[in-house]
Amino acid sequence: MTRFASDAFAGKRALITGGLGFLGSNLAIRLVELGAQVTIMDCMLPDHGANLFNIEPVKDRVKVTFTDIRDANLMGYLVRDQDYLFHLAGQVDHIVSLTDPYPDIDINIRGTATVMEACRHHNPTVKVIYTGTRGEYGAQPHLPVDEDAPMMPKALLDISNLTAEQIIFMYHRVHHISSMVLRLTNIYGPRAQMQHPRYGVVNWFVRLAIDNDEIKVFGDGTILRDFLYVDDCIDAMLMAALCDAAYGNVFNLATGIPCSFRELVETLIAVSGSGRWTFAPFSPERAAQEPGDFYANIDKIRRVIGWEPRTALRDGLAQTTAYYRAHKSRYW
Ligand SMILES: NC(=O)c1ccc[n+]([C@@H]2O[C@H](COP(=O)([O-])OP(=O)(O)OC[C@H]3O[C@@H](n4cnc5c(N)ncnc54)[C@H](O)[C@@H]3O)[C@@H](O)[C@H]2O)c1
Repeated sequence: MTRFASDAFAGKRALITGGLGFLGSNLAIRLVELGAQVTIMDCMLPDHGANLFNIEPVKDRVKVTFTDIRDANLMGYLVRDQDYLFHLAGQVDHIVSLTDPYPDIDINIRGTATVMEACRHHNPTVKVIYTGTRGEYGAQPHLPVDEDAPMMPKALLDISNLTAEQIIFMYHRVHHISSMVLRLTNIYGPRAQMQHPRYGVVNWFVRLAIDNDEIKVFGDGTILRDFLYVDDCIDAMLMAALCDAAYGNVFNLATGIPCSFRELVETLIAVSGSGRWTFAPFSPERAAQEPGDFYANIDKIRRVIGWEPRTALRDGLAQTTAYYRAHKSRYW
């Protein structure tokens, strides 16, 4: 059930960068169902989430352009006449980030600057919604983490997202382009990349459970995370976009409910009826980037936007497992 006026997006134009990926495609489907005119741009970055099957339910009702956000001419052309710009394109692979610094810098930082320059020159009244990450906080001594916590990103990927966020707020303040940032926790659900475990841990565990493989839980399984189901995440993005008071602000987008990796895998195996799990030592790459426990304070998004999560972990995992069981050949 929709949590805002059902015609709020009717006839509105929305551009989604990274729209063939996990979050972008789920968002595109919802916007089309709400009557919006959606344009997806995606450069099909290798080993990322772009998958044409993701938009199967709306494939005849969206425009898709295979474009890179770093192409200033095309970006300028595409942003014209848009009401909303959901900027979701990014380099999100943690291991790439460790081994090669330049994709983070080039796509997440320079790419975001290109997106915002296109807005400034070609459509300064567009409303921009950017998805940052909980990784921007790094290791935090106090939990739950609120938006005013000191920013201590560990990995270059998180530094690049934080930099992108600050570029966006600079355009908001200096060039008056209405913009907001949602700092996302770990999101799981249908339409994610399922090819490799380099990002998207919950979805990767779902694949292992479906294949009745062994799930390796790093460390002793007590590390806490905050796992949010994708439909709740998309609800929040839409509600935020419609909320005038949200622009100029940053919000945690999470459940606020801590969950250990052990609880996650035990719930997943119970829900899916398959899979096994064991403890495993951290790989050096994982250890280098592991920020420790995280769960978010979501008071601000509740108060300003009126959103809160609705999907219990067990239900979200059941829906995720059912989707990939039905469409496994499209994902791995
Ligand atoms: N999924 C999560 O748990 C999560 C958590 C925190 C933040 N985020 C953020 O949300 C955004 C979307 O993530 P996702 O999970 O959907 O990832 P994804 O890999 O499924 O989607 C990213 C999409 O961006 C596209 N892309 C990458 N570089 C591009 C470029 N230069 N030009 C055009 N398209 C490009 C890719 O081809 C891909 O389709 C990212 O910015 C990510 O940092 C996601």
